[in-house]
Amino acid sequence: MSADDDIAAKEAEALFKIHGVDQRSAELAFSHPALGGEDAPVRMRQDGSTSKAFVPGTSTVIWPCAYSLGDYLCDATTAYRAKLGDGVGDATEAARVGAVTADTVAVELGAGLGLGGMVAARLGARHVAITDSTPAAASRNVQANGLGNAHVSELWWRRAAWRRAPKRDGDESESDIDDEPNEVPTAEDAVKPLLASLPDGRAPHIVIGSDICYSQGKQEMQALVDTLAAMCEPSRTTAYVVFEDRGDCCWGTLNHFWTAAESAGLVGDPTPVEDVEIDGKKRSGPGRHNDSERLLLRLTKRAAA
Ligand SMILES: C[S@@+](CC[C@H](N)C(=O)[O-])C[C@H]1O[C@@H](n2cnc3c(N)ncnc32)[C@H](O)[C@@H]1O
Repeated sequence: MSADDDIAAKEAEALFKIHGVDQRSAELAFSHPALGGEDAPVRMRQDGSTSKAFVPGTSTVIWPCAYSLGDYLCDATTAYRAKLGDGVGDATEAARVGAVTADTVAVELGAGLGLGGMVAARLGARHVAITDSTPAAASRNVQANGLGNAHVSELWWRRAAWRRAPKRDGDESESDIDDEPNEVPTAEDAVKPLLASLPDGRAPHIVIGSDICYSQGKQEMQALVDTLAAMCEPSRTTAYVVFEDRGDCCWGTLNHFWTAAESAGLVGDPTPVEDVEIDGKKRSGPGRHNDSERLLLRLTKRAAA
């Protein structure tokens, strides 16, 4: 192929992509050496932008953060297993470094096609609960991949009754939600059936989410964070959320997310996906071309005082 042909091919490929990923074709595949490489991908069906069932900005298509999350779980699990040797590992300890063991209980929020949760299931987790407000696409994919350890259910993010993010100086983004009546059910009520369905009825070791903070307002971020917090147990659960910078609105949303996290007792830090280290070393996995536009947020819940 000549240099000109190569440039033309790259341009054609870029045109086919939306947000840096293929949001058009009906079939997608995610592969990683930790899952057996290209011969054993996680397969996904999406209602892409050429399908009548396409709903822009929603669960019907893949978002780039999902690939970054899948890569991270695979890379972290590979490194954790290498360190363990013949050992069994501990699911709480593994979750702290993003890894999955045979005892791991995982929950995915806002799963869309369900890639993050399906990767956790393929890595051998004991039980993966994949949730979304519209879980049809994830349900179809989990079934098609034959994942008996992954369970899909509908879960809407809800606000908690017991705390509200404080309004900060200069924040003119919406009415002050402190003054609004509580919704029923609360985040704690909403997650109860899901928590009860997990092994031993206990909180998960790991909660994951990709592209669940994008262009929403303060109230929705409070609802997401309250749901996340209601799912986390201090000293047991670690949460990972992959965020993508798709323009100005996303940074405002991320700001709402952190303010809400603070009020919900979640502490954490963001790391650019490209700079995430696995076991103190630069990642050796495949990586994605625009990982630099994404952050991996790692969160844990403070113990109540
Ligand atoms: C941008 S998509 C990301 C989907 C998927 N995680 C990915 O990375 O490909 C955002 C997802 O969050 C879900 N979502 C948005 N608001 C929600 C809410 N209030 N409760 C539950 N899920 C919600 C949507 O249905 C959608 O699947």
